[in-house]
Amino acid sequence: MCGIVGYVGPRQVLPILLSGLSKLEYRGYDSAGVALLSDDRIKIFKKKGKIVNLITSLQDKDIRSTLGIGHTRWATHGGVSDSNAHPHTDCSGKIVLVHNGIFENYYEVKAELATLGHKFQSETDTEVLAHLIEHEYQKVVPLGLAPTLAHFEQAFRAALRQVEGGYSIVCFSQDHPEAILAGRMHNPLIIGIGQGENLVASDVPAILPYTKEVYNLQSGEVATIKSNSVKVTDLEGHAISFQTRTITWNAEQAEKGGYPHFLIKEIHETPNVLRQVLSGRIIDHHVEGATLGLDGLDLRKIRKVTLLGCGSAAYACLYGKYLFERWGRVTAEMFYGSEFRYHEPVIDGETLVIAVSQSGETADTLASIHKAKESHPARLVGIVNAHGSSMTREVDRICHLQAGPEISVASTKAFSSMITTLALMALYFAQTNNPGLAMQGFLDELSALPETLEKTLQLEDQIAQLSTFYIHKQSAYYIGRDVNYPCALEGTQKLKELSYIHAEAYPAGELKHGPNAVIHAGFPIVCLVPQGRVYKKMLSNIQEMRAREAHILAIAQAGDTQIAKHADHVIYQPASSEEISVMVSTLVMQLFAYYVTLYKGFSIDQPEGIQKVYPMPGHITSVPKSIDIDKPRNLAKSVTVE
Ligand code: AGP
Repeated sequence: MCGIVGYVGPRQVLPILLSGLSKLEYRGYDSAGVALLSDDRIKIFKKKGKIVNLITSLQDKDIRSTLGIGHTRWATHGGVSDSNAHPHTDCSGKIVLVHNGIFENYYEVKAELATLGHKFQSETDTEVLAHLIEHEYQKVVPLGLAPTLAHFEQAFRAALRQVEGGYSIVCFSQDHPEAILAGRMHNPLIIGIGQGENLVASDVPAILPYTKEVYNLQSGEVATIKSNSVKVTDLEGHAISFQTRTITWNAEQAEKGGYPHFLIKEIHETPNVLRQVLSGRIIDHHVEGATLGLDGLDLRKIRKVTLLGCGSAAYACLYGKYLFERWGRVTAEMFYGSEFRYHEPVIDGETLVIAVSQSGETADTLASIHKAKESHPARLVGIVNAHGSSMTREVDRICHLQAGPEISVASTKAFSSMITTLALMALYFAQTNNPGLAMQGFLDELSALPETLEKTLQLEDQIAQLSTFYIHKQSAYYIGRDVNYPCALEGTQKLKELSYIHAEAYPAGELKHGPNAVIHAGFPIVCLVPQGRVYKKMLSNIQEMRAREAHILAIAQAGDTQIAKHADHVIYQPASSEEISVMVSTLVMQLFAYYVTLYKGFSIDQPEGIQKVYPMPGHITSVPKSIDIDKPRNLAKSVTVE
């Protein structure tokens, strides 16, 4: 994540930067900083912690400036400290920049620049780019000639061409006080076009008080932003003509990125979250253990993995259990945190304990960590989203979920990050324990997952349409086999939390041992039926339920030619292996639960007798009053009590 803001124009810039950063704080709050051009010099102020720390530290300062950039950080490379806070500069201190994203090849570039004499002040990947621009700048400015803005632009583009990974960058130089340069690859960057002033930011709320006219910089584009003009080119410097659009949202809508709820915004953020999760972790056909919190562990000495979590995190752990055993060939168990704390666990020197939590504050998960520690000083890894949370202080090793702040109480993108992270960990184990596993296919699928999920999001209209059929249902079953059982559990969790419709998940083969008794004509059953080892078994289970007149909604894969004969409704998601299909079906079920809830709300709000009209995604301008999707009744985002 991380939030960026920049301004050039006639106004005093500091208040604009600070208020912009406050609006972007949801993107990270490990540290904040600003760089301003004042009296022809760059002045930088940065502080560890929330933006309020930076604001307080600047209260007595009178800094006159009309050009500047700011940043709020969600730490990835380098700890949370003042020195790792952005902005960062080159050796001369004349080039300054802020960054959102990860430079995957920063290490190699840094080593090369170090041999050329560059000195680094921080542990960040970002600072490396400032030095790389400096290096390119020295190359393009002819000896004896004064550098021009065109030289600086050329150096900026040359540096960006060498960078691998995703980024959005905003940068300026003391030598060229008239302009801010901006560049984007994947991570968002929006240019706000004002009257005699221009802005740039990671998200609309930061620029909305000054203009509603915006251009979303595209991947591979760079911009030169002056107070009276904006020029866009590609990375080679070829001019690109661009069209602005007018924002019609109010401030509250803008914080949700124009989406009606945080939940649907967060679902849409999942592909980019997984880009971050996967970044730097699959290299040269293998999984890197360093940022997974597993490096240096002698995996041969680990006989059991105990996975701990609550709610959706527990379902992620159950998925992890299947993969640790199947791929990693190590015994694995999942415990609900609330149960483990009263359990007599068998934990010894050969056990690896992994606790999973979005908030890092869930009381039951924290208590289960204490229980594990009491039982044996075992190795403890925490998979956690919230930096600086209690859990990060309780574990020996931390693996960050990198999902960014999740505001909706019902977890979506953080859950997707959990299951993807656990899949990477299981493959990391496989490298030692299961050399016979054909890993490459899974690595390729994981690498392509962000794009696969982007394709899956294109099913949104169809899923929305289909969901109207289910809004009056009282109850539902979700079934899946093998790795799709935990996936079914998470599907019911979303439907229950959001729509308040009762739902239960079962391994498909279990229905005949009891739950079948509930099934009656029209009873909805959501069936997870990816292609794979258990596909035919699933078809048999579906037939059994159809014989009892159940209503079947199948979540199957593109190219499946049989399923339509067995189901009332089918959603065809992009094809993948059974194991990876879980990430894809999860997204489908999140969208399904969201639209069932939204339309159920519209339906309750509309007076009887009026013909129901349900707006499709992209046309939703108001939200139903009867259901609070982002804050479901009786729940809290972080459950800090037992
Ligand atoms: C998920 O949608 C839930 N709101 C809930 O089950 C959550 O996953 C659980 O409370 C655990 O929270 P944590 O990940 O912050 O520990």
